[in-house]
Amino acid sequence: MKEELLAIALKDPLASLDDAKAKAFFDKYGSIEAIEGKLRLPNHVTSVRHVWRDHELSNEEVAALKDIVGVLQKTHAQLLSAHPTLAGILSRNESHFREATADINEPIRVAVTGASGNIGYALLYRLASGDAFGPRTPVILQLLELPGALNALQGVEMELRDCAFPTLRDVIVTDKPEVAFAGVDYALLVGAQPRSKGMERADLLMKNAEIFTVQGKALNAHAKGKDTRVIVVGNPANTNALIAQRNAPKIPPANFGAMTRLDHTRGLAQLSEKLQLTSTTEIKNFCIWGNHSATQFPDISHSLVFKNGQWKSLREELNDEAWNQNTFIPDVQQRGAAIIKARGASSAASAASALIDNVREWHSGTTEWTSCGVHSNGEYGVEKGLFFSYPLIFNNQKWNVVPNLHMNAFAQERIDATHKELREERDAVAKFLPKD
Ligand SMILES: NC(=O)c1ccc[n+]([C@@H]2O[C@H](COP(=O)([O-])OP(=O)(O)OC[C@H]3O[C@@H](n4cnc5c(N)ncnc54)[C@H](O)[C@@H]3O)[C@@H](O)[C@H]2O)c1
Repeated sequence: MKEELLAIALKDPLASLDDAKAKAFFDKYGSIEAIEGKLRLPNHVTSVRHVWRDHELSNEEVAALKDIVGVLQKTHAQLLSAHPTLAGILSRNESHFREATADINEPIRVAVTGASGNIGYALLYRLASGDAFGPRTPVILQLLELPGALNALQGVEMELRDCAFPTLRDVIVTDKPEVAFAGVDYALLVGAQPRSKGMERADLLMKNAEIFTVQGKALNAHAKGKDTRVIVVGNPANTNALIAQRNAPKIPPANFGAMTRLDHTRGLAQLSEKLQLTSTTEIKNFCIWGNHSATQFPDISHSLVFKNGQWKSLREELNDEAWNQNTFIPDVQQRGAAIIKARGASSAASAASALIDNVREWHSGTTEWTSCGVHSNGEYGVEKGLFFSYPLIFNNQKWNVVPNLHMNAFAQERIDATHKELREERDAVAKFLPKD
């Protein structure tokens, strides 16, 4: 059965390397023999689409077809990993996947809080268009706002529907957490109390502690349950994640995250510029440790860079420790403040983009290191239960901290400083933390 379907699905593998320009490009950048067959992926996917549309399929056949699409996507991911320089060219495969297989999976319910805010506006269209859960998974968006922002949110809903995304199944707009979180697979907690003029950091912590206590409790009572994933973006993200998690005991602590993915991409972008790389995919093993705040530690100690066809030590290629310590680290730590100064508003499109990356990686897995604040199990001497950003690999919708990394004295000092700040934040909100 599977073989028959595979034969139909792959029956029309047109050669897609007729273009002389593409040939010249691959001659220069990659082994053409190795990738030639794999570049036919878009044609294979289109064939899968025809099988899906034009035949009455049994449940067994649908399962087989899903497997086939899975194999095609895996091939695409392997190709990208083996040839990081081809990222731009290969991205067109993604849009083929999107169009060809939009309705094969069950919809995923995603709650977004603060949905009519700046990040929300940049985020929702990408969630709806398949950027986070993939081109073959429909989504139902469940959007939460304060009552005063509901009108604006209804306008956002109209626009979302007007896009006619094949992956958008429904949109729910509400000011009630119990409605927004009902049955959700993912909750993206973006809305938070902003820091107003003259407000002390301690007051900001308290105000947000109240919001994330309410939302944690509502998630506990109404979300899907032990398979729900919760990613906190609203600041102070790590401590808000801790509060939400402690108030939602039915959801495993490992399912909560605090977003440091934007700090991660900021670091990659700056390194890529400094080393004059073709693409940020030519860097790996970079990470952010600790808090999403100015004490975070962007760490290049273990990073590799793709140069002349080989992965080499980034530190050795850079050969400029003074730039690392005096320019790179402070610039990544202060990037949020620099954007507020320039734009008059905090980063929104880049934060939304990083959240898409974060969700996609959590959902579909990673082969390279990424960063996210997660519930510490004591790794690298961090107090158990704190939400601490680590180098992570995601697999099967679970994360593992990259083990056995050697820390030099400089790195340890940085990690100690951000660890101390997170302990202080936790102690300040102690009254909002039911026992773990
Ligand atoms: N982790 C990160 O990397 C990162 C990066 C950028 C911004 N942020 C943080 O993300 C948050 C949102 O940023 P923004 O630019 O979208 O802010 P924004 O002020 O434009 O939007 C926030 C929205 O949240 C809503 N809101 C507030 N309290 C709410 C509640 N209890 N329930 C539901 N909605 C609520 C507001 O009505 C508003 O529409 C801020 O806390 C910001 O500091 C985090």
